[in-house]
Amino acid sequence: MSLKRLSVQNLRNLSYVDLELAEHLNIIYGANGSGKTSLLEAISVLSLGRSFRSRKIKSLIKSEQEQLTVFGRLVVDGEQSVEMPVGVSRDRQGGGQIKVDGCTVSSASQLTEHLPLQIMNGHSFQLLEGAPQVRRQFMDWLVFHVEPGFLSLWKDVQKLLKQRNSVLRRDKIDPLLLAPWDKELAVKATQLDQMRQQVFDRFLARFKALVEDFIAIDGLMLSYYRGWDREQSYSECLEAGLNRDIDLGYTRVGPHRADIRIGILKQPAAEVLSRGQQKLLVSALRIAQGAVFQEITGRRCVYLIDDLPAELDSHYREVLAGWLDRLQSQVFVTGVERDVLISAWPVQSKERTQSVFHVEHGMVTTCETAPVDTVNKPTEYEVGQ
Ligand SMILES: Nc1ncnc2c1ncn2[C@@H]1O[C@H](COP(=O)(O)OP(=O)(O)O)[C@@H](O)[C@H]1O
Ligand SMILES: [Mg+2]
Repeated sequence: MSLKRLSVQNLRNLSYVDLELAEHLNIIYGANGSGKTSLLEAISVLSLGRSFRSRKIKSLIKSEQEQLTVFGRLVVDGEQSVEMPVGVSRDRQGGGQIKVDGCTVSSASQLTEHLPLQIMNGHSFQLLEGAPQVRRQFMDWLVFHVEPGFLSLWKDVQKLLKQRNSVLRRDKIDPLLLAPWDKELAVKATQLDQMRQQVFDRFLARFKALVEDFIAIDGLMLSYYRGWDREQSYSECLEAGLNRDIDLGYTRVGPHRADIRIGILKQPAAEVLSRGQQKLLVSALRIAQGAVFQEITGRRCVYLIDDLPAELDSHYREVLAGWLDRLQSQVFVTGVERDVLISAWPVQSKERTQSVFHVEHGMVTTCETAPVDTVNKPTEYEVGQ
């Protein structure tokens, strides 16, 4: 999947942007505060219905404007001639519309399905130092994209847990009342766990094969924790923990507590690694995910890499760029200095198409793609105002 065209209106400092994008590498450079991250946020609106930076839509809409609009044309992998229009509008009152291929859809998950994104930015460190929820979401990204039944199963489990928790909070609880909920919950939770386990095993094999290229870490261990005791079935766990759950007023263990444990010699990775090493590890995790996604579905995901040079020296910038190049994915990469970004990628290959964009005060200019040591002249204005 790749994004061929991107039009943005009234998103942060971007009043109006209309760009033709390269199928592979899109380099976005400009001074601090010029609008580079905002451009990436616009792409994330087309995939998630919102920004990766914040769930608050009001801060995303340009000040003094009522609504933002992002429109894109996707090219389906393997069918270069088939284009799919997608569009999202959001207003200050919380209203909005999502359109996929000409039809209004009710859920952003339908956007996500068509435009699978991997995002690497300052928040990526959360994958190592954040709460289990961050790693669970990371794992579920892949499960969602490769297992068609995942989303409805996940929703069923959430609903059953909510119902069970509301029963647990009643003054008087009849365990017999809980039995039917628990039975159904146990069946679905077990299915969800099996789906996650299978996808994780596949992911781990791929990750192990590539991580050493990024960073050699002695004793690095990744393991999947399903959210409850390995030795017990989920129904046994629910039964054994019932009194404790009644005291707490919620279900303590289950698939809603699943995690990926990332440790180095039994220490959490975030406590042992330097910032640069953490960035490499997180990058390896995201590259492995994109690679497995590609192996299983035959489709490519899109990578947004905000501020590539931060915390990475030139060698590791090249390692990361080299892997992205091998995946042949569409990449949007930002940074202040244009040449630092361009020089990270392997010397122009015939298979790769690339574009360079300069962002200045919310205006985006398409530049000629030229070798690193020549000056880029803007060729066309893509931006109004
Ligand atoms: N809702 C908004 N309306 C107008 N401008 C905004 C809004 N939110 C943020 N900005 C401004 O947009 C500019 C671009 O931000 P950003 O995309 O993060 O820049 P960069 O990534 O290039 O450093 C900043 O100067 C910021 O103050
Ligand atoms: Mg930025």
